[in-house]
Amino acid sequence: MKASAPGKIILFGEHAVVYGRAAIAVPVSQVGAQAEVSESSRLGIWIDAADVGLHAELSTLPVEDPLAALVHGFCSTFLGKPYPNLHITISSTIPVASGMGSGTAVSVALGRAMAAALGLPISDEQINALAYEIEKLHHGAPSGIDNTVVTYARPVFFTMARPIQTLGVGAPFTIVIGDSGVRAPTRESVGDVRRLWESDRPRWEAVFDQIGRLSQKAREVIESGSWAEMGPLMNENHALLQQLTVSSPQLDRLVARALDAGALGAKLSGGGRGGNMIALVSDGTAAAVAAALKSTGSPRVIITQITPVPTA
Ligand code: MEV
Repeated sequence: MKASAPGKIILFGEHAVVYGRAAIAVPVSQVGAQAEVSESSRLGIWIDAADVGLHAELSTLPVEDPLAALVHGFCSTFLGKPYPNLHITISSTIPVASGMGSGTAVSVALGRAMAAALGLPISDEQINALAYEIEKLHHGAPSGIDNTVVTYARPVFFTMARPIQTLGVGAPFTIVIGDSGVRAPTRESVGDVRRLWESDRPRWEAVFDQIGRLSQKAREVIESGSWAEMGPLMNENHALLQQLTVSSPQLDRLVARALDAGALGAKLSGGGRGGNMIALVSDGTAAAVAAALKSTGSPRVIITQITPVPTA
């Protein structure tokens, strides 16, 4: 049985979302993770993930290995012991540590493929909860936005501990995603923001409030279809992320070049200090912005369209 899950980008609100503010994330279907699971006559649960050079039986992997943790989590939640004999194959086209949700997409795809192979009727909500547990291993104290957008594969307006709100898209818009070529150290940047916040809570709470307001405004313009108004909001969000010390010279260069090349707005996306930046473009400027990012050293540029989806 096969299952897949898309990548994602955060449009607004990263970091502030960890402190209860709203954020917006969208799936990116040009990249994704795939899992194939079949029952096997060979003893044990064998995992093949050629992309990361892994071929191992579950019991030989450390329990904190994210793949092993997902399988253990799945089996202990839904099956109990003894575990079935399975063969698992994982592959992914999502760049690792780029802020595009590579780990969480593998969790979601694998959880779904296991459920399908074993004939278990497991809901999106249960898959999302399982993927969130694995996110904790990757990132420490995640907000849950990444697993949510990847599980539901639709734009989300996300606030921690609130029911999931999908986001209506009034009219399609295009985003150019530029990889900085540097790994995004999300656990570290999330930890550093926490230290900053602890050093002066009123100051950083005010910054989180500003970011939360940008997410709210962005929601209105996305839903109403006046997406071009998102550009200045993205620039403001980037400036606030710079204050939070999670940008980097390379991300700032890519953001500046995208704006020079005609983007309506640009910002880093995800944990920052590496990973990706995103730029909002009109139809006529997508190619020029993509070319500008490549010539500034971005090793990977993706052009993606965010389109209206039927509400759930
Ligand atoms: C990472 O994709 C987004 C952060 O806001 C962390 C989180 O929400 O868990 C930086």
